[in-house]
Order: sequence, then C-alpha cells, then structure tokens
Amino acid sequence: MTIDIDIFECRGGDILACDIVNKDGVKLVSRGTTLNDYIIEKLKQFEINNVKVIYPPEYIKKNRYNYEKFEYGYKKSIQLVKDIVNDLSTGKALNIDKVTSATELIYEHIHQNDICMLLNFLDRIKVTDEYTYLHSINVAFYCMLLAKWIDLSEYEIKKAVQAGLLHDIGKSRIPTSILNKPAKLTNEEFEIIKKHPVYGYDILSESEFSDLDIKRAVLLHHERINCSGYPFGISGEKIGLLARIVSIADVYDAMTSNRVYKKKVTPFTTFEMFITEGYSGFDAYLTTEFINHMATYLIGSSVKLDNGENGKIVYIPPNNLLCPIVYSNGEYIDMKKSNIRIIEMI
Ligand SMILES: [Fe+2]
Repeated sequence: MTIDIDIFECRGGDILACDIVNKDGVKLVSRGTTLNDYIIEKLKQFEINNVKVIYPPEYIKKNRYNYEKFEYGYKKSIQLVKDIVNDLSTGKALNIDKVTSATELIYEHIHQNDICMLLNFLDRIKVTDEYTYLHSINVAFYCMLLAKWIDLSEYEIKKAVQAGLLHDIGKSRIPTSILNKPAKLTNEEFEIIKKHPVYGYDILSESEFSDLDIKRAVLLHHERINCSGYPFGISGEKIGLLARIVSIADVYDAMTSNRVYKKKVTPFTTFEMFITEGYSGFDAYLTTEFINHMATYLIGSSVKLDNGENGKIVYIPPNNLLCPIVYSNGEYIDMKKSNIRIIEMI
C-alpha cells in the first residue's frame, strides 16, 4: 500500500514507493530508499512537493520483521543445506523435499519491509566457518531479490531461489582438501574445482529433480557473457536468464564475504567491479538493476572511513553509486569531491 504525502509530512524512516525525478526527468532518489533528514532536506531544496511512500509507516513499524524469527529460519535453512550436502557426500540421492523446504523458508522474506533487515543480516553473517552452506543460502537470497526487482512471477522467483540454493551442489564431489585449502589453488586444483557445475548438473539429473531451467542454471552459473567463463565458454543468450541471475548473486556474495585467504570488500567495491569490468562478463541489464536496488538499502548504514573515523551513509546519488554522501564528525562528506574512502561496513 502506498500514499502520496507532502514533503513536509515526511519523516526519517519512511520508505519511498516510487523513484523521485526532478523537472528535467533526472532521477534524484530511487524507489525503496529509506528517507532520512538529509534526503528530505535535499528534496525540499529541489522543490519536490509530494512523494509516494509505503503506507502506513505505523503499520510497518508494528509489523516490523522480527529479527529473531528471521535468524531462526536462517539457521533452519543452514541445517537443511547441510543435510542435503551430507546426504550427497555419503552417496544418498538429492532430497528434493529438503530443497523445497529451504526454498519456502527463504521465500518468506520477499516482502519490501523485510529487505533492509535481510540485507543487514546477510552482511553481518558473512563469517568464514561454514562458508559453503552460508554461501548457498546467501546466493539464494540475492537471487530472490534480483528476480523480484526485475518483476519475475512468484513461480519464477522460487525457481531463482532454488537455482541459488543448488548452484554449487556439485562441490559435494570435490575433495574437501581442495575446497577448504587456506591458500591459492594450483592450476591442477583449479581445473578440478571447475568441474563442479557439471557435477551439479549430474547430481540433479540423477535425482528426480526435473526442472530443466534450474539444471541449466547450475551447469552454466560460471559462464560469462564475453565467453570467458567455464565449463563451455559460451556467451550471451545461450547462458539463460537464471544462470545470469545466479552468476551476479554468486560473485556479489563471494566478494563481500570473508574467506580464510581473503578479506571481504565493501558493496561499493563490488559495484565498481560490476561497473568497470563486469558489464562485459555479466548481463548489463541485470547488473544495473542489482546494484541500483542494492545501493538504496545502504543508505543509513554505518561505515568505517580510511581517515580512521566512522560515519553514516545519508545519500547515494542514483547516477553515481560509487560516490555516496557520508555524515561523519558533524559534516557531510561528498565522496565525489573528497579523497576519503569507505573501507568497511560496520
Ligand atoms: Fe560455483
């Protein structure tokens, strides 16, 4: 439900239901952004009189997602993924009921007023132990969000969740000594790792799992638009929508997670990678939708700066996602005009 309200009635915490554009049609703030005092003040300066917000804020506050309940569901999903992988490691078939249960647990969190909390949780849960299980679940969440943001149907969104959950299932056939090696892999070891998409496809084909789109997504999630991926080096449309969704979710989660051999980077570093390098490898439309939406949820996040200070992101210009405005030590820092950089989300 949405409602038009006067800009002077806006309060910090209101969530925008539509993009706000100026008189020339330039987007100032994106749909989904949680408003704060800085943004409201800027909108007044741009003579924006009315905005459409998700209504009613009181309703959302009363029904604000219960963090503990989410955490409980997340842990239940981890256990399901662990069971699925353990079954496969001991020669049992893929348990499709467990895949369906994990999908439903994740799909519960698709609602707009959960997303901020969900992304915050995913950012904090990025620990190194149990990475394989967490990664599958996190990728499933990011796949769900991207599928929602490009307006896929409920049926298709659930398929995206399943593809995310299962994308690395083939790693259950890779020796753990290689998977968990706390150092750079040798060329030979990397060649073995590169077999996991085919193993994953085989596992699904050997089970009663019949969805061809999901099987193809598991097989092709390391392919890239510019033919630089594996196992086949195919390009563009041949890769398929689901695999292209999974590839973005997979890379985003891998880059923003701590591993034994590398420290996680900030979402802004991943945006920069997607913008400067990624467009040749990833689907440009999906990448743009993903980073534009992700950016709106970073407003309000606390960050550590490379000058040793902490701050809070108060605004991210839709036309320059790499240069947020950060409030720190009583002043607004415009990253476009400053040499100060964000080094960590806190
Ligand atoms: Fe993979």
